[in-house]
Amino acid sequence: MPAPAVAKGDSQLIETARRVLPGGGFGNVSHEIIIAEGKGGRVWDINGKEYVDYLLGSGPMIVGHAHPEVVEVVQAQTAKGTTFFANNEHGIRLAAEIVDAVACAEQVRFVSTGSEADAYAMRLARAHTGRDKILKFEGGYHGMSDYGLMSLAPKRAGNFPQPIPDSAGIPKSLRDEVLVAPFNDLETVAGLVREHGDELAGIIVEPFQRLIAPKPGFLEGLRRITEENGLMLIFDEVVTGFRFAYGGAQAYYGVTPDICTLGKAIGGGFPLAAVAGRADIMAHFDKGKVSEDKFMVQIGTLSGNPIAAVAGLKTLEILKRPGAYEQIFKTGGALMKGYAEILKNAGVQARVVGDAPMFDVVFTAREVTDYRSAMGDEAKLKRCNQLLRERGILKGESKYYISLAHTEADVAFTLDAFAASIAGM
Ligand SMILES: Cc1ncc(COP(=O)(O)O)c(C=O)c1O
Repeated sequence: MPAPAVAKGDSQLIETARRVLPGGGFGNVSHEIIIAEGKGGRVWDINGKEYVDYLLGSGPMIVGHAHPEVVEVVQAQTAKGTTFFANNEHGIRLAAEIVDAVACAEQVRFVSTGSEADAYAMRLARAHTGRDKILKFEGGYHGMSDYGLMSLAPKRAGNFPQPIPDSAGIPKSLRDEVLVAPFNDLETVAGLVREHGDELAGIIVEPFQRLIAPKPGFLEGLRRITEENGLMLIFDEVVTGFRFAYGGAQAYYGVTPDICTLGKAIGGGFPLAAVAGRADIMAHFDKGKVSEDKFMVQIGTLSGNPIAAVAGLKTLEILKRPGAYEQIFKTGGALMKGYAEILKNAGVQARVVGDAPMFDVVFTAREVTDYRSAMGDEAKLKRCNQLLRERGILKGESKYYISLAHTEADVAFTLDAFAASIAGM
């Protein structure tokens, strides 16, 4: 693909970023790179260097950057007004599409980010049960709230179920409100529910935690335990929603939670996320349905804004077309297989972990089933990412996201770059 006309790099820009942004960046990926433009499965930096893009804006750009059909509806809506803080047709249609597609979703409340959606989902579980504690899994990512930042990426191995805060500024008292278990360990969950069941509001889980697949029976076991004990089961589908299947991971694995959160894909690259769930639970957002002490106030300036709604609706329409998921799985599957062969031939101790829509290499000899076993050789991964970047492959620190826009030529180019990077290590 010919490079688009990108303004030549402003050498001052990195310096300006260092001066005006803490740590020199927005807090996301490496600050050394400044992206100028994206189209399909590729992005260009301000120096005109082209990358096959597996970062995909951290997931939302599942149909590719600047998809012409998405651009068209966004441009049309922009001319008609960008946000109203009121119901609009497109937001209502997007909610209806989510209700049709996602098994647990009888009603939807829009917010702007996955972090918000997760915070509200946990609050919803507390409002509905009248209990305070939340059980989460070590390494599970549920946004940046005080609750979400418990044992997301602990540097030391704590004792279960004590949470380890990942950030400064989290109230000490909150440590009593979160219980932590290892992912894929149903026995520990059952024990914690036996001991704390009458204090627990719910269990929040990424049904596919980062890159770790649930063991057969794990999600079903969580469903059974939560049902038997009157706890809310929350699936964080911010990543997996509309990615593993049109109905998300709950369709892919055939387990329906009480509440789920959605983000990334449903906003088509614009700020939009959602909490969705059973109508009797979502009733806590409805003053007319619950008593005053059960009502959950929820307001957001950009909630359901029509720009994100049209972009999300168009993205979902594209994903719904015949062959879309087959294409994503074919691309990701070919990369995973190719990577595994390259690693085997090079005699490198590493595993390709994940599933076709998102995966990465973990430099470890162990089977990866939870946060601790997923901790491979970080220095090697960093080095590999850097060598790949030099060869025109952009990815997150520990994930490749696959889009509909990635081509067979991208796969071939990426496999060559990966083989050369592994050889270069
Ligand atoms: C599983 C999961 N939940 C929640 C979030 C937070 O979403 P956001 O970055 O939109 O706040 C993320 C972000 O990557 C995520 O991966």
